[in-house]
Amino acid sequence: MNKLYIEGNKKLNGNVLISGSKNAALPILFMTILTKEKIEISNIPKLTDISIAIKILRSLGIKIVNKNKTLYIDPSVINISCPSYNLTNKIRASIWMLSPLLTRFGKAKIFFPGGCKIGCRPINLHLKGLIELGAKIVENENYIIASIQKPLQGKYIYMEKVSVGATITIMSAAILARGLTIIDNAAKEPEIIDVAKFLNTLGANITGSGSNKIYIKGVLKLHGGFHKIIPDRIETGTFLIAAAISQGLITCYNTEPKHLTNVLKKLSETGAKIQTGKDWIKLDMKEKKPKSVNISTSPYPGFPTDMQSQFTLLNSISSGKSVIIENIFENRFSYVTELIKMGAKIEIKNNYIICKGIPKLYAKNLFSTDLRGSATLILAGCIAKGITVVNNIHHFKRGYESFLKKLNKLGANIQYINNNFSIF
Ligand code: UD1
Repeated sequence: MNKLYIEGNKKLNGNVLISGSKNAALPILFMTILTKEKIEISNIPKLTDISIAIKILRSLGIKIVNKNKTLYIDPSVINISCPSYNLTNKIRASIWMLSPLLTRFGKAKIFFPGGCKIGCRPINLHLKGLIELGAKIVENENYIIASIQKPLQGKYIYMEKVSVGATITIMSAAILARGLTIIDNAAKEPEIIDVAKFLNTLGANITGSGSNKIYIKGVLKLHGGFHKIIPDRIETGTFLIAAAISQGLITCYNTEPKHLTNVLKKLSETGAKIQTGKDWIKLDMKEKKPKSVNISTSPYPGFPTDMQSQFTLLNSISSGKSVIIENIFENRFSYVTELIKMGAKIEIKNNYIICKGIPKLYAKNLFSTDLRGSATLILAGCIAKGITVVNNIHHFKRGYESFLKKLNKLGANIQYINNNFSIF
């Protein structure tokens, strides 16, 4: 069951229900370490990254019951403060345990986090923030030990680079610190707002999330509470691309159009007809050939790096020539060589690519190397001429709930095949 067999020449049409945001759910799960009272979190997406996060929390002693995408969490007892290497090295998000464990126990040891290989992905800004608030950090080749002698002390912190992950680490460290922390040049992603909203529900005092300055007044204790995870904006964008590349019509429900303003603007430029309602987005590309668009990724509200590969696919079969610049991660074009195999006319320069649209992609035996790239290759298979095989399929399961089921319902024909099967 480790390859996909994808029939091409499909038009993708219909309705799709968007799941909860992976990138909001992951930090929120780790923030539950900050309280000893019961928490309920709904709209949890069913993904391998989330299962790993739940396993990590359970390995610490936290009790979690999972019913219909709602987690009932009892974090009153934590027996160990160093989760195993075999779990933490699987997900980047495990870095978000460091500050809650430090705050709760005064000491925490975690192994370096894993995640997609899309760049060197340092954690210096997370650690620097913790040091500024008063933590002592000792690093060796494999792990980090953080410790404090007295409660962390609130401070003005200027982030030298906009980082989603480091903003969340510092925000979580400041919740139970003494005094006021100001995070300047903070990341403004909707996921940051969702984490802040969750923490405020538990009694934290955070204002300004979603702007570039976040103010956190330390409180003495957090209590329990209920939170619903926001919809996944990247999953939404990926399904809208599915409609655009196949000249189809797809409506995404249970989503938040406001979180995709820049993505929708670019999709309109391609010629797609877009309509939005309170919680839905419809993209209609029927009977139209898309026009290619230039993209330059940047922190929110700019164009998301997590939508870069899907737009490259769109440009590769659109009319015209385009440039896509990647400004966030230094190694995020590995999927491009696979699209080139399919016939795409793309030149890779340093941090940008030049793409000349062609009428059709051709099915090939493809290898995915990261989460968003793998979703892109699966979509490419749906519209290519012939039968595409995608290998290394564990990637897409990390970030797309029921991806194949949802695509097949829209008209795709994607099946699992075993290793011995060959069509070439
Ligand atoms: C998060 C998202 C990821 C998204 C990215 C940018 C999760 C689980 N992942 O990743 O899907 O693509 O935001 O929107 O939420 N950096 C440093 N030092 C640090 C931290 C980051 O130099 O300590 C750099 C990174 O290498 C990168 C840039 O800052 O060049 C932005 O990274 P960051 O926003 O932190 O991304 P992640 O939180 O890892």
